[in-house]
Amino acid sequence: MTPPHKTNGVGVQAGDTQICVVMVGLPARGKSLIAQKAQRYLKWLSIDAMVFNVGNYRRQDSPQPGADFFDQSNAEGERMRRAAAEAAVTDMLKWFAKGGVVGILDATNSTKARRRWVKERCDAQGIETLFVESQCDDEDIIMSNILEVKTTSPDYQGQDPETAVQDFRKRIRNYEKVYQTIDEEENDLTYLKIMNVGKQVIINRIQDYLQSRVVYYLMNLHIKPRSIWLSRHGESEFNLEGKIGGDANLSPRGEMYARKLPELVRQSVGDDRPLTVWTSTLKRTIATARFLPENYNQLQWKALDELDSGVCDCLTYQEISELYPEDFKARDEDKYNYRYRGGESYRDVVIRLEPIIMELERSENILIVTHQAVLRCIYAYFMKKSQADSPWMAVPLHTLIKLTPKAYGTLEERYDAKIPAVSTWRGKGSVAKHEDPNATTDSIGKADGAV
Ligand code: ADP
Ligand code: F6P
Ligand code: PEP
Repeated sequence: MTPPHKTNGVGVQAGDTQICVVMVGLPARGKSLIAQKAQRYLKWLSIDAMVFNVGNYRRQDSPQPGADFFDQSNAEGERMRRAAAEAAVTDMLKWFAKGGVVGILDATNSTKARRRWVKERCDAQGIETLFVESQCDDEDIIMSNILEVKTTSPDYQGQDPETAVQDFRKRIRNYEKVYQTIDEEENDLTYLKIMNVGKQVIINRIQDYLQSRVVYYLMNLHIKPRSIWLSRHGESEFNLEGKIGGDANLSPRGEMYARKLPELVRQSVGDDRPLTVWTSTLKRTIATARFLPENYNQLQWKALDELDSGVCDCLTYQEISELYPEDFKARDEDKYNYRYRGGESYRDVVIRLEPIIMELERSENILIVTHQAVLRCIYAYFMKKSQADSPWMAVPLHTLIKLTPKAYGTLEERYDAKIPAVSTWRGKGSVAKHEDPNATTDSIGKADGAV
C-alpha cells in the first residue's frame, strides 16, 4: 500500500481502459502535432502514452521516397507502406500488452479498409479505438504547414526546399485519389472529426472517461501564434525569512519588481497588445500584478495557489527537518510524490492544474503570476520536463519567462528584471535558508534551467 505521504497512485482515473488513438487525414493536416501534444498532455497527467509513427517505420526501408512512392498504383510502394503499418501496429500492441494506456497510431489511415484493419487488430486484444480525423481544406493553412514542417522533415533532408514543396504537394494529390473521410458508413466507430482546426467538430460514440478527456483536450487545441508568460510573485517577506507557504506581503524589493513588471512585459511582448493576467488568490501574486495596465484583464484562480505544505506551512526548511525529520527525508527521496501531512504533493498540484492547462490551450496570450511549485508544474507541461526533474528546477524570483509554442517544441526566453532577490531554491538534503542554485555541485539536486 502507498504510505500516506506518497501520492504515486493518485492521478486522472484511467481505470483499466486502454485506448488506441488512430489518427486519420491527408498529409500536412497536423496529425503528428496533435499526436505529440496528446502524448505530452497525458504523460504530464501520469497516463502512460506513446506515439507510433508509421512514417518512421517506413523510413527504415525507404528514407526519402519521391511522391510516386505514395501512388496507389505503385505496387512496391504499397507493399512497403503496408509493411510499415504492420510493424508499427505490432509494436504498439506489444506495448499495450506491457500495460501501455494510450497508444497513438500516427499515420494517414486514409481508407476505410485500413481503419477497419486497425480496429480489428485492436479489438482482438481488447484495446478500444478512438479515431481522430483532421480535415482541412484551407489552402493557406496547408501551404504554411508544408513550409513549417515538411520541407525540414527527414523525408526531404538535404533537398532543395522548393523542390520539396512541389514533391510534397504531389504526394498529397496521390493520397487524395484514395482518401475516404470518416462518414456514416463508419458510425459504429468511436471518432472525433476536427474540421479546419476546430471550426467544426463531430464526435461520435465517445464511451468512457479517458476517451472524453482526450477528445475534450483535442477539441481545445488551436494553432494561432501566441505566447504564455510566467512569473513568480515579487520577493515576499516569507521568502526573506526562508519560510514556506503562508500569505505574506511583498518585501520592498518585491514591490520594486511589481512596479517593474509592466515594463518587462511590454519589452517582451514587443508592442502594446494587452495580455490577460491570471494570478493566484494569495496576496503576493495579486500585489505583483497590480501595476499592470488597466486594459489587461485580471483573473484570480484558486488552482494557481502555491503547493499546500499542510502542517509545515509557515515553517523554514530547517524547522521542518527538526520537527518532521522522516518527512523531510522522504520528500527529498521522491519530491514529486511526497505529500505534506495535511497538504499536497507535486502530483496533486498537477491534477488541480489540469483545468488551467485546458484553458491555456483554448486561450491566446496569457500572463500567469504564480508560485515556485505551481510554475514548475506548468513549465513541465510546456517543456516536457520529467516528474523526477521538475520539482528541482530553479525558477528565480524577479524573472519573466516567455514560452512560445511552435510546431515541434516550445521556445523559451527569459527576462531578468535585474532587481536582486533571495534564492528560494533548495538542493537535496540542504536546510539552508538561501542557497545559490548555480553554486551546487550535487548532480541530483542540480539546478536546471537557471538563468
Ligand atoms: P501531418 O502529420 O498531418 O502530416 P504535421 O503534424 O506534420 O502534419 O503538421 C504540422 C502543422 O500542422 C503545423 O504547422 C501546425 O500548425 C498545423 N496544424 C496543427 N493542427 C492542425 C489542424 N487541426 N488542422 C490543420 N493543420 C494543423
Ligand atoms: O519558498 C517559496 C515556496 O513558494 C514555498 O511557499 C513553497 O512551499 C516552496 O517554494 C516550494 O518549493 P519546494 O517544492 O522546492 O519546497
Ligand atoms: C508515411 O509513409 O509517411 C506514412 C504516414 O504512411 P501511411 O500514409 O501509409 O500511413
